[in-house]
Amino acid sequence: MRYGIAFRITGVASRRLGWIAAAQGLDLKGQGASRAEGVVNFEAASAAVGGDVRTWLAAAQADVLFEATSLNVESGQPAIDYIRAALEHGAHAITANKGPIVHAYRELRDLGAARGKQFLYETTVMDGVPVFSLFDQLPAIHLQGFHGILNSTTNVILGEMEQGLSLDEAVKKAQALGIAETDPGHDIDGWDAAVKTAALITVLMDVPIRLDQIEREGIRDLTANAVRNARRDGWPFKLVCRARRTASGVEASVRPEKVRTGEPMARISGTSSYIYFETDIFSGLAITEENPGLYATAYGMLADFVTVART
Ligand SMILES: NC(=O)c1ccc[n+]([C@@H]2O[C@H](COP(=O)([O-])OP(=O)(O)OC[C@H]3O[C@@H](n4cnc5c(N)ncnc54)[C@H](OP(=O)(O)O)[C@@H]3O)[C@@H](O)[C@H]2O)c1
Repeated sequence: MRYGIAFRITGVASRRLGWIAAAQGLDLKGQGASRAEGVVNFEAASAAVGGDVRTWLAAAQADVLFEATSLNVESGQPAIDYIRAALEHGAHAITANKGPIVHAYRELRDLGAARGKQFLYETTVMDGVPVFSLFDQLPAIHLQGFHGILNSTTNVILGEMEQGLSLDEAVKKAQALGIAETDPGHDIDGWDAAVKTAALITVLMDVPIRLDQIEREGIRDLTANAVRNARRDGWPFKLVCRARRTASGVEASVRPEKVRTGEPMARISGTSSYIYFETDIFSGLAITEENPGLYATAYGMLADFVTVART
């Protein structure tokens, strides 16, 4: 109990599970595992509550919502509704989902502030790496631009194609690793990278940007031969995200680029990610995340939870 935080899980919900809640706590280990007295079996029908998020939040007496539904690039829904309902209910909201940042950041931030609740989203970009909270530690700084590799699925796919796999085979490998988006087209066509780029611009540059304002090209049209030859010639392909402040706003792009071997981005392999920030004080500030596993994503949500619990 290093932070003196006690917690219990009082609700779980998904499309297949429905809405399950028990204010005294749910047993996530299931039947047969040792259980604290009074804790409800996770799958017990008696713990299921009616079919909407507000009823569920009330039944769970939720203090904190962890939102991790699939990315919806078009609207950010239903995650936005879930987070809005949590903040209105009086719970803090933590999300791993980039959709609400891109489609409703200001509304949810302001709603949280009005209700005295936090809306946190550290794990949406580079898993648990503190990219957003880094800037909380850099008051009065101005972010002028950034570039990096933010979609690990395409990075894994390009690496596998360099080794001789076709695009389809490489996608299956990324899915087996559990890193591909629910719809892998979101990775291959650059949507996930574009949404992350938009999230960083919206929050860190304070410029709301629509996805259609980001020039976007994915890796779908790259052939295995082109990818292999580029690596052989010392200019491997990477799906690169870029943003730069302009007189009228921000210019941003996501596209496959040939990166010279020896540049930091060329060394980013597997599930690793990389970001290089350009600020008025630090002309270059780079972070590399080396081959994280799925725990890194969960860690970001845990870190947000500790932040909430401590404040
Ligand atoms: N995986 C990563 O490495 C990673 C990293 C950072 C951020 N993220 C973000 O985290 C989120 C989850 O990713 P994931 O890889 O865990 O995806 P996933 O394995 O596809 O899980 C998505 C979950 O969301 C539930 N869900 C989907 N639509 C729902 C709805 N309308 N109402 C209630 N539940 C719904 C699904 O429930 P059912 O199974 O019952 O349908 C499933 O449990 C995504 O937004 C993703 O962008 C993921």
